[in-house]
Formats: sequence, C-alpha cells, structure tokens
Amino acid sequence: MANNYRASFSLFFTALFLLPRSCPQSTNESGDEHQILLGLKRYWGSSPVLGRWNPNSSDHCSWGGVTCTNGMVTAIFLPNQTFSKPIPPSLCHLKNLTYLDLSYNNFSTSFPTVVYNCSNLKYLDLSNNAFAGQLTADINSLSAKLEHLNLSANRITGKIPASIGQFPLLKSLRLDTNQFDGSYPAHNISNLASLEVLTLAENPFLPAAVPVEFGKLTRLTYLWVSGMNMTREIPESLSSLTELSLLAMNNNMLQGTIPTWVWQHKKLQYFYMYSNSFTGRFHPVSLP
Ligand SMILES: *[C@@H]1O[C@H](CO)[C@@H](O)[C@H](O)[C@H]1NC(C)=O
Ligand SMILES: *[C@@H]1O[C@H](CO)[C@@H](O)[C@H](O)[C@H]1NC(C)=O
Ligand SMILES: *[C@@H]1O[C@H](CO)[C@@H](O)[C@H](O)[C@H]1NC(C)=O
Ligand SMILES: *[C@@H]1O[C@H](CO)[C@@H](O)[C@H](O)[C@H]1NC(C)=O
Ligand SMILES: *[C@@H]1O[C@H](CO)[C@@H](O)[C@H](O)[C@H]1NC(C)=O
Ligand SMILES: *[C@@H]1O[C@H](CO)[C@@H](O)[C@H](O)[C@H]1NC(C)=O
Ligand SMILES: *[C@@H]1O[C@H](CO)[C@@H](O)[C@H](O)[C@H]1NC(C)=O
Ligand SMILES: *[C@@H]1O[C@H](CO)[C@@H](O)[C@H](O)[C@H]1NC(C)=O
Ligand SMILES: *[C@@H]1O[C@H](CO)[C@@H](O)[C@H](O)[C@H]1NC(C)=O
Repeated sequence: MANNYRASFSLFFTALFLLPRSCPQSTNESGDEHQILLGLKRYWGSSPVLGRWNPNSSDHCSWGGVTCTNGMVTAIFLPNQTFSKPIPPSLCHLKNLTYLDLSYNNFSTSFPTVVYNCSNLKYLDLSNNAFAGQLTADINSLSAKLEHLNLSANRITGKIPASIGQFPLLKSLRLDTNQFDGSYPAHNISNLASLEVLTLAENPFLPAAVPVEFGKLTRLTYLWVSGMNMTREIPESLSSLTELSLLAMNNNMLQGTIPTWVWQHKKLQYFYMYSNSFTGRFHPVSLP
C-alpha cells in the first residue's frame, strides 16, 4: 500500500518535472524542421548546395534550395546535386512541403513511394535521373493536390497505371523519354480535365491509333507525342485542342493527310510532323 502510494507520488512529480521541458520542444515545429534538414545534409553528404548549409545558423529558411512560408519549409529545390542515395522518408516530415525538385540527380531506385507521404505536394520534379522499374497501380497515393508531375528522362518500364487519371488538379504530366511499353491508358489520361502539358513521347509503346479521347483535353497548350508508335490518321477530335502552342507528332507511323484545322489554330506556334507516312500535299498553298 505504502509502496504503491510512493510510486504514484513520484510518478506525479516526474511528470510535473518533464512536462515544461518536453512541451515547448515538441511544439517547436521550426526547430524540428531544422533537425530534419540537418539530417538530410548528413545523409546525402556535401553536395554543392548542401555543403553550404551552415549547421550553426538557426535560420534554415535562408539556406540554398530551401524556401519557407510563415517559417515552415514549403519548397525544396535541389537539382543537379549528384545525389544517389534513395530519397529518405524524413523528407516528408516537412509537412508543409508543396514543391520538390530533385531533377538531374543520380537516383537509380524504383519510383520513390516515400513521397506518397508528402501529402501537401503540388509540384514534383524527378526528371533526368535513372529511376527504373515500374510505376505501381497505387500511384494515385501521391498527393491529391498534385499539379505538376515530371518523370521525364528516366528508365521507367512497364505500363503507365490507369490510376494516373485520378489527379483532378494536374496541369502537367511529363512521362516522356522512358521505357514505358504496352498500351497507355488514354481514356484515364483524358479524364485529367486541368491538363495543359502532356508528354508521352519517346517511349516504346505498342503500335496504336492516336487516341480520339485526347480531344477532351481542351486546355492543352503542349502536346508532345513523338516517337511512340502511333498509327492511322490524326483524328478529327483533336481539332478541339484550340489552345495548343506546340503539337509534336513526328517519328510515328501516321497516315492520311495533315488535317486542315491545324492551319486555323491561331495559337499553334510549333508543329512537328516529320518522319511519318502521310500522303498528299503538306501545306494548303495554292501553287501558281
Ligand atoms: C525553435 O527552434 C529554433 C531552431 O532550433 C530556435 O532558433 C528557436 O529559438 C526555437 N523557438 C522556440 C520558441 O523555442
Ligand atoms: C560551427 O560552430 C563550431 C563551434 O562554435 C565551430 O567549430 C565550427 O567551425 C562552426 N561551423 C561553421 C560552418 O561555421
Ligand atoms: C549541373 O551543374 C554543373 C556544375 O555544377 C553545371 O555545369 C551544369 O550546367 C548543371 N546542369 C544542370 C542541368 O543544371
Ligand atoms: C508520414 O508522415 C507522418 C506525418 O509527418 C509521419 O508521422 C509518418 O511517420 C510518415 N510515414 C512514413 C512512412 O514516413
Ligand atoms: C502547414 O500545414 C498544416 C497542415 O496542413 C496547416 O495547418 C498549416 O497552416 C500550414 N502552415 C503554414 C505556415 O502554411
Ligand atoms: C551523376 O550523373 C551524371 C549525369 O548523368 C554523371 O555525369 C555523373 O558522373 C554522375 N555522378 C555520380 C557521382 O554518379
Ligand atoms: C518538369 O516539368 C515541369 C512542369 O511541366 C517544368 O516546369 C520543369 O521545367 C520540368 N523540369 C525539367 C528539368 O525540365
Ligand atoms: C480508367 O478509366 C476507366 C474508364 O473510364 C475506368 O472504368 C477505370 O476505373 C479507370 N481506372 C482507374 C484506376 O482510375
Ligand atoms: C514499336 O512497337 C514495336 C512492337 O510492335 C516495338 O518493338 C518498337 O520498339 C516500338 N517502337 C517505338 C519507336 O516505340
């Protein structure tokens, strides 16, 4: 009895003693983020930019490649650092992170699913690395706030998962210059109603007709679908893409004629159709 009493009495005092010290620490989110960034520096080593992160300076918001909003880290911009060690989970403990650019590094793992946990991400650029393997069907576990996804110039194989069509706010989707094969989920991609930039070019897809559904993507300004085994004629449905400034369909197996609507699209500045199997005259000029 007496022992029990003494035990709970001392527990009570231990708690009193610990509380004032542990509380401010666990609510100092800026201090936590400082530690997370120092952890990244230790982990990835002294790259050109991380080498200049001074651990003695408490103001990590002024470090190169780091941007804060109201004292919380919102952007990490670290392209071209020769990072090769996989992206660590701690990166997503920066819970206000909305912008992540790790392009032009030396990552060679499969797609880093740890970034699924960056739940506020709007911009993800992992282009120009050596990411390999396949994207998995749960790619829609990436932040639903995503507006820009750039996976260009990697070594990703297999099919593009149909769940790629589940990002209602996505404005740009760049999947060009990889090793995606099989067929691509044209129908699901055409559900990305906010899409302005779409690149699927330079992937060894199976031969298939130009997707009629892409005519639904009426906000597109940039459509790069070169070198991806597209066959048959350019469908009339694409005439609805009146916002296009670039349309690149070169190096395919397209047939028929260049449709006349392309000459009426006032915003079209770049139009690449070479290396196809078109017939007929290329430009509607009247010869003398
Ligand atoms: C929070 O942590 C930062 C960085 O370690 C430190 O500069 C700041 O004084 C701390 N703020 C509070 C209220 O403890
Ligand atoms: C950080 O502070 C320590 C101790 O004051 C000092 O030895 C070290 O040179 C400082 N490092 C930098 C990068 O300023
Ligand atoms: C990468 O950095 C090197 C030197 O640090 C520079 O010469 C090169 O232009 C950079 N490349 C890109 C793509 O930023
Ligand atoms: C995901 O983030 C939450 C909140 O920041 C964190 O508690 C959790 O441990 C993270 N999960 C992983 C797998 O890193
Ligand atoms: C950081 O994110 C949290 C949770 O999403 C949010 O409540 C908070 O307002 C954000 N802080 C800033 C400074 O944006
Ligand atoms: C990183 O990749 C670049 C370009 O792909 C290459 O030139 C460089 O040698 C690589 N560096 C390391 C450390 O692997
Ligand atoms: C990746 O895509 C984004 C959004 O379309 C674009 O702004 C960025 O320049 C691209 N990154 C590279 C390295 O080209
Ligand atoms: C892909 O689109 C089809 C047709 O609209 C739909 O039935 C299917 O649920 C979509 N798949 C995913 C994973 O979103
Ligand atoms: C076209 O498809 C064939 C399979 O029928 C494949 O071997 C080839 O690599 C593809 N070519 C391109 C340029 O995607």
